[in-house]
Amino acid sequence: MIANRVPSIQVTVTDTNARRIAAWNSANLPIYEPNLVDLVKTARDGVDGKHDPNLFFTTDVDRAIAGADLIFISVNTPTKMTGHGAGRALDLSYVEAATRKIAEVAESNKIVVEKSTVPCRTAESVRDILAANGKPGVHFDVLSNPEFLAEGTAIPDLLYPDRILIGSLSNDEGITAAAALVDLYAQWVPRERIITMNLWSSELAKIAANALLAQRISSINALSAICEATGADISEVSYAAGLDKRIGPYMLKSSVGFGGSCYKKDILNLVYLSESMHLPEVAAYWKSVVDINEWQKDRFAKRIVACLYNTLTSKKVAIFGFAYKKNTGDTRESAAITIVNILVAERAKVAIYDPQVKEEQIWQDLWANSASLNETNECVSICKNAYDACIDAHAVIIVTEWDEFKVGDFSDSEINLPNGVNGHSSDPTSEKMHRGIPGTQPREPQTGLDWSRIAKVMRRPMFVFDGRNIVDAEKLEKLGFRVECIGNARSGSR
Ligand code: UGA
Repeated sequence: MIANRVPSIQVTVTDTNARRIAAWNSANLPIYEPNLVDLVKTARDGVDGKHDPNLFFTTDVDRAIAGADLIFISVNTPTKMTGHGAGRALDLSYVEAATRKIAEVAESNKIVVEKSTVPCRTAESVRDILAANGKPGVHFDVLSNPEFLAEGTAIPDLLYPDRILIGSLSNDEGITAAAALVDLYAQWVPRERIITMNLWSSELAKIAANALLAQRISSINALSAICEATGADISEVSYAAGLDKRIGPYMLKSSVGFGGSCYKKDILNLVYLSESMHLPEVAAYWKSVVDINEWQKDRFAKRIVACLYNTLTSKKVAIFGFAYKKNTGDTRESAAITIVNILVAERAKVAIYDPQVKEEQIWQDLWANSASLNETNECVSICKNAYDACIDAHAVIIVTEWDEFKVGDFSDSEINLPNGVNGHSSDPTSEKMHRGIPGTQPREPQTGLDWSRIAKVMRRPMFVFDGRNIVDAEKLEKLGFRVECIGNARSGSR
């Protein structure tokens, strides 16, 4: 991403991937994020002639670099797959390629901003490459400005950030460059939330924040196993602990395991850094956060197998959700990938439904992690809605906490209950009559699923494995479901 100096900010996003840029220039953006379309459209297309467009997407990288004052390097830094540090260190090849390109093209001074998550002291390499390859007389300042927004809440995180972090060298040039970036953010962020510090602290603070957030989730997930074994309830334990101001309530929701492109990658990078600094105890500490996460996914899958009488062969199970969290179509490191592959290895028939994830993405993720492509293709199907996924299923497995999977309030449609459940009879006229009564409140738009409809089509006994603790287990039990939650005596007491 490339920005001109304030006050008339022009932002040009440039990428060598023509398909991606075309998508950013179209009505169908390449990623799903609540309210992103409106924000992009306003800036990219202008509004009713009142505002000129100031957001541009282009594959013309050279031109974008040439015209910019500030250049944000926002490229991927995946985990290295081969060579020294494989499986732990970050692959910095895209950062280096972008840096070399800037040095090669720039004909005027630039402030180069590391936006990608990078290992501590990467700015040193960036400075070195720019200095060695830049044109004579062209000066580069390098800043670190890590990104803290989370998927699903990216727009509010962007508009009302907890903090903006800017790292620079502590010499005059570094401080002047940092001030230019402060001015840019100060257009919409209160100055007291814009923090400046030294480059290496800023780089490390990003990875530290993610490691600490993930560590909280692994801690609560480790406690969830104790809850299941003792009859305690993890939601109550988490609530009670979170009331302590020093602990706070956030990131303490027990789950089937954290996913996303960052936590695992960043922690493994911290492990690698610790090992390189000859700090094996520190490395082992952070590694355990990732290990608990893997264990939690495996533990959940084992419980599914055990509850379904230790055989899944040819049994249909419905998977609700494939994204790594709600309100995103992103599947990177999603717990769903691990869970589905374990179920496929057990020869279950797995029907997947996710409201946002594209079908080809699901196949890609499963194939990339599958032990046998034939088995995956034979065992997995992808459904257009949650109800279809449940036809003839023995179990529903909730992997993503989409609101639409909750138990909807279909109180006046209890007519849909299977005969005998709750003693209701099937009188298809009653709901229509209720809607027609003058003076009754208009119905709120329905959120959640009509689980009574699901109960009608599933095999008995019907199981729900709630990997996110989002369903009202008591309501479902009244409908005849057996509900297994994470870290809850409901499952532990069986
Ligand atoms: C995370 C951080 O929250 C952001 O601050 C950071 O900028 C971002 O990584 C990044 O480095 O790019 P993100 O991965 O989008 O953001 O999402 P989170 O909301 O942190 O959730 C990560 C995973 O943890 C999800 O699978 C989520 O379901 C899980 N989670 C989250 C829990 O299992 N329990 C919780 O209490 C919270």
